[in-house]
This record gives sequence, structure tokens and C-alpha cells, in this order.
Amino acid sequence: MYILAIETSCDETSISVVQDSPNNKRILSLVTRSQVKEHQAYGGVVPELAARAHLTNIEPIFAQAIAQSGVDLNTIDAIAVTAGPGLIGGVLVGVMLAKSLSIALSKPLYGINHLEGHALTARLSHNVAYPYLLLLTSGGHCMFVEVLGFRQYKLLGQTLDDAAGECFDKIAKLLDFDFPGGPALEKKAVHGNPNRFNFPKPLEHTPQPNFSFSGLKTAVKLEIERSTIDDQTALDIAASFQFTVGEIFAERTLKALKCCSHKVQRLVMAGGVAANQHLRGVLQQLCKSHGLEAIFPPMDLCTDNAAMIGWAAIEAIKNAAPPSAIDFQPQPRWPLQDLNQPSFI
Ligand code: KG4
Ligand code: ZN
Repeated sequence: MYILAIETSCDETSISVVQDSPNNKRILSLVTRSQVKEHQAYGGVVPELAARAHLTNIEPIFAQAIAQSGVDLNTIDAIAVTAGPGLIGGVLVGVMLAKSLSIALSKPLYGINHLEGHALTARLSHNVAYPYLLLLTSGGHCMFVEVLGFRQYKLLGQTLDDAAGECFDKIAKLLDFDFPGGPALEKKAVHGNPNRFNFPKPLEHTPQPNFSFSGLKTAVKLEIERSTIDDQTALDIAASFQFTVGEIFAERTLKALKCCSHKVQRLVMAGGVAANQHLRGVLQQLCKSHGLEAIFPPMDLCTDNAAMIGWAAIEAIKNAAPPSAIDFQPQPRWPLQDLNQPSFI
């Protein structure tokens, strides 16, 4: 089966052709264009500009993704598209292309939840079996989910305020690092002293595996306002902040494991923040010392990409989930648990 997938929910325009056959799954093409240039001057993603850039870029990316896949459009079995959650102007651009293709080619259409795309990526990249503990950490979300089966998502904990990626981005901006902030801060942190500043770890003393990053962000902001920010201090703040996030992730993962209803043996980290090597290392170490397998999708499948959307549609098709109606409405907010099968409590 061949799936053509489209992702436009934030600042990456991405189109992919994914193939699934009985013994093989392959990404035949994945073309992703990031909008760094469009948003750089503003130090953050501007929704209106993002939507316009998707509109400008989507056609050439579509042509490139089809050409690279070597697949004739008529051989495609279904169209998959991110239908939310995300910045609605961008989502609409992808959904309109998907609906047009579905009508023109008479192919079924699958409106996919972006979070489900992240949640299932490791099954595409690593063949991970259910159940597993998922730490989904991106620019808009930070949550622990026990993934028990197809559309059986048990939410164990989540951020009560900011997402981890958002916190990376805001601190990078305060420190005048490049845009986008997350990867820029990681590069700087390598040269800093992670022990120079002692930042707080909100919710450390509660049993639930929830997160709160706004207090950490404010503590770092106050330190930046208080300190004379020479080059080395900026590097040390970056390193100390990243170190603190690592400690929070490790400690919260242990709490999440205790909350799992089944004995899970695998931890999957997904979402843009999972591209961070320091955080991967911390969780790798933690899993090793607790006899768990740690799984990290490759970097280009951690950040937003259409291949994960194609794969989520393949899982839906294999589980006989019905396609979306042609008049389905994209949703700016769409919790992962809303997808759960009725039989799953
Ligand atoms: O999953 P994603 O590409 O988009 C959303 O669905 O939000 O995640 C983007 C987030 C951004 O906040 C970005 O700064 C963060 O992931 N990110 C990173 C790294 N690469 C991306 N954060 C920390 N270290 C990185 N290397
Ligand atoms: Zn994402």
C-alpha cells in the first residue's frame, strides 16, 4: 500500500510517500521545508506568515516528493493529512490540498491527529511493539502516555502550563541565540557549565508525572536579568537550563513508569525536543539502569514531518478505521485521548 501524506500544522511544510507491504515499511520520499527565514526576524512562529508560506511552498514540495518517490500518483492508495492540533491557517492549506487530491484521484482521505503521528513514529522507524511508555515532547505539548494498542492512549501526565520546546525557544530568545531556539540552545549548551546555576524543578515533590515549565522559565529569565550576560554566562545558563530539563525528564519518567497499568519494557521519546542529544543521553542512561529499552526515532522523524502522518494512516487502515468524510473539519485543538476506541477505558 502507498500513502501520500501532508503535514502543515506548524512551520514545516512536509510531504511524503510511505509504503507498507507485509514484510516491509519504507519512506519512499520525505521532503520537508522549514520556514526559518520567514519567522527569524520575529523570533517565533507567526501563524499568518506560516500559513502564507505553506501556500507558496506546498506545490513545489508536492512535485518533488512525488518525483523522488518514483510512484505514479494513480498508484497511491490513500491520502493522509494532518487535521490538527496546530496553527489552523497552516492546517487548512494542507487539508485543502489533501481534499482536492482525494476528489481528483478518487482515493480515500485520512485526517490524522498530529500527536498520533508523533506517538506512532517509533513503530515506523523501530518496529516497536505495544505496550510502551511514550514521552511526547514538542513545541506545543509535553506528556506521558502509556500506549497500549491502536488508539488506546492512557494519558499519565502532562504539562500544566508551557511545553518543554516552548521553554527552550523562549530561553534561547532571551539569550539572543539563533532561531529556532531549541536546536540553537543545544549547540550552545555543549560549551557551558551545567552546574553553574541551580534552577528549580517545579512539581518535583508530587507523585503525578506532570510538568510545569513556566516557573523554570521565569527562574531562568530572572537570572538573565540579574546577571551580567557575557558570552560564557550565556553558555552556562543554557547548559544549566538543559541539565535541569534532563533531571526533570528523568525523575518524571520514573514516576510515569509507576503509573503504568501494564509492565512496560520500552520508553519511546518523540516530538521535536526528542532531537536533543543531551536529553536522549539522560533517558538512555536511565533506561539502562532500570532494564528498559530506550527508543528514539531518527532526528528528521522527531521534528515535524509528513512520514509520521502517512504511517499513522497506515495503522488506521490496518485496523479498519474508516476514512474521513470529505467535509471533515480540521481542529486547532484535539487531545490524543479523543481518538481512543470506545472499548478502551
Ligand atoms: O514536534 P515539533 O517539530 O513541532 C511541534 O509539534 O511543536 O517540535 C518543535 C519544538 C520546538 O520548540 C523546537 O525548539 C524543539 O521542538 N526542538 C528542540 C530541538 N530540536 C527541536 N528542543 C531542544 N533541543 C533540540 N535539539
Ligand atoms: Zn509536532
